[in-house]
Amino acid sequence: MKFFLDTANTEEIRRGVELGLVDGVTTNPSLIAKEGRDLEELALEICELVDGPVNLEVVSTDAVDMIHEARYLAGLHKNVYVKLPMIREGLKALHVVAQEGISVNVTLIFSPGQALLAAKNGAAIVSPFIGRLDDISQEGMGLISEILLMYENYDFGTEVLVASVRNPVHVVEAAKMGAEIATLPAKVLEQLMKHPLTDIGLEKFLADWNKRKTPA
Ligand code: E4P
Repeated sequence: MKFFLDTANTEEIRRGVELGLVDGVTTNPSLIAKEGRDLEELALEICELVDGPVNLEVVSTDAVDMIHEARYLAGLHKNVYVKLPMIREGLKALHVVAQEGISVNVTLIFSPGQALLAAKNGAAIVSPFIGRLDDISQEGMGLISEILLMYENYDFGTEVLVASVRNPVHVVEAAKMGAEIATLPAKVLEQLMKHPLTDIGLEKFLADWNKRKTPA
């Protein structure tokens, strides 16, 4: 399973890369805006930090502008994957830019039908948002299993990226289902590492070691 970091914060990305666990990065307009930096400068810095897909989202909402924006973003760096929203205009843009060889991540997916259309039109990645479904009392993980099941019947070559991840259980469940990618907020990556018994165990080992009798 590939891990992407769901952040545009270069310090968080640097810390994740140091661990050797980061295969890519996802951003969205909210995450980019939070950093208060020039998009191009920030995107290039992230692309230099990560040896893998760096997902940058368009902010246009009509197909012609989306196509121009997708070409511009993809031209910034070889690592860029372009995120297009799962709307009618996004599908039209996807159809054009995927044929030009631009890797597209179709985002804001909330139903199996949406994931089917995106795959059929050439999406490299689809991003079902599980946390936002949980937020409205629909089980997000159910959507992941439905998409994976559906894709098994065909040869789309589209990877399922589990997005809107809120806790380590989401990641483990997605791994059990065989989702290709999960995108993690830095906090969830930290939480996955932690277990209180690990800390207690290590503390005890070191305390015993420090109390050892040294050979005469
Ligand atoms: C990533 O590609 C998505 O934009 C992100 O996971 C959304 O997460 P949120 O629902 O926590 O904002």
